[in-house]
Formats: sequence, C-alpha cells, structure tokens
Amino acid sequence: MRHAACYTLGGMIIAQISDTHIDPDSPYGAERVRNLERCVDDINRLDPLPDAVIHTGDLVHNGNAAKYRVAARILGALKCPLHVAAGNRDDRAAIRSIFAAGRDLLPDTPFVQYSVDAYPVRLIALDTLSETTNMGDFCDIRGDGLRAALAEDGAKPTALFMHHPPFEIRESQYRWQYDSQDAIDRMRRALEGQGHVIRGFCGHAHRIAAGKIAEVPVTSTPSVAIDLRLGAFPDEVQSAPLYQIHRFDARRGFVSELRAAP
Ligand SMILES: [Fe+2]
Repeated sequence: MRHAACYTLGGMIIAQISDTHIDPDSPYGAERVRNLERCVDDINRLDPLPDAVIHTGDLVHNGNAAKYRVAARILGALKCPLHVAAGNRDDRAAIRSIFAAGRDLLPDTPFVQYSVDAYPVRLIALDTLSETTNMGDFCDIRGDGLRAALAEDGAKPTALFMHHPPFEIRESQYRWQYDSQDAIDRMRRALEGQGHVIRGFCGHAHRIAAGKIAEVPVTSTPSVAIDLRLGAFPDEVQSAPLYQIHRFDARRGFVSELRAAP
C-alpha cells in the first residue's frame, strides 16, 4: 500500500469508510465491490490527499480468506495509509494480520486494539466485538488496555475509532448497540477525565448518528454498501456510496463532512 503523508502545521485529514460488507456470495456482491471502488477512487482524487483512511469495521460479510482478498485488492489501491477497526462481521485474525497497522495494545489477547502515533492526532482502534452476539461489548481487559494507552500520552489530541457506537440511537431498531450498559459503562469509565480524547468514529449502525460518551463527541457513518444503508438522503445521492471526511486543526478540532463518491 502506498503512503503519502501530507499534513500541514499540526492539522490532518481523515477519510472514514465503514460497513463495506464485501461478499461475493451475496446477490449484492458486485454492487458492494463497486461501492467500495468508487469511494477509493474518490479518496485518491482528493486534493490534498487525506493523511489516513479509517475503516470502522465490517469490511467483509462473515469473513473468509477469499472475501478478505477481494477487500484487500480494492483497498490496496488507496494512496494513503489505512487503519481498520474490527466489526462483528469480521474475522479478528484477518484484521490483525492484514489491516491493523499500528502498535498492538493487547498483544497477548484476541482483542484488536492498537494505537497509531504517526499523525498530529493519535488514533486508537478499539475492539467492541461481542463473543456471543452481533452487538457490542467492552470487557475489563479492553477497558484496562484503553486506560493504559491513554495514560501513555495525556497531552496529544486523541481520536478513537471502533465499530459499535457507544451511545443511544433513537431511530435505530436497536437503540443501544451493546450487549449491556455495563459494557458502555466500562468504556465510559476509561474515558472520564481524559480531556485529550476529542472524538470517536464508529460504524455498525449503517446510518448517520451522533452522541457522546464521557463528554467525548462520537458519530457513526452510513454504510458504504448502499443496499445496507439506513436513513433518509437526498434523491441525488441515492445511488452514490457515502463516506466521511474529518478535518482536524488545533484551533477548531474536527469538522466533518459527508461525501458522495461519484
Ligand atoms: Fe455492518
């Protein structure tokens, strides 16, 4: 994968894609491949190029090696570094071995949590997968790992990215996206008083939503897979895959924009 860091004066640009659900076995398989290719092409045409792309999970739908090969081929065309958080439809081992480029925070556990310290904003990928359901979970091991990671650098602006949104989404079929409030409380406790954590980016809900956890603003983004996207959008973008651009500068923090890939 080619890297082209181009941030200036402490700012950075993150492109967020999510829930691509690549699945050649699905009747929507070809369309989902095209949805992702259109986003990659559009990101590569941005000027300036984003400093990083984050994928907030569900790269493939119930992953096997063949599906990850398809996803890796398409994402390999990105001109900027890619960092992936595992989704409930993903295979942790595949994400860890192919896509999790960063410093492993929990190396002797199954959990895919890592930090990327190469940018003006520190990025921390959280593992919110449940062992038993498609909902989210966040256990003591993951909470302690997050707490330890945040303690390493209490000054640098930090953004979290994860699959399951840890806030209420009233318009969703599942208003809370975790197995239990206890799981969300464990994440909240790890984040309380950590003023350098300035944003969280999520997927899973397949729709635009916003909330907070421990005073940290957190958003979810629509699925790149159009057939799985939820929420109302203008007619002119009905057939366009959507992703988000998050621009950071030290004065304003993050400003986000929804983009339709042509
Ligand atoms: Fe999904």
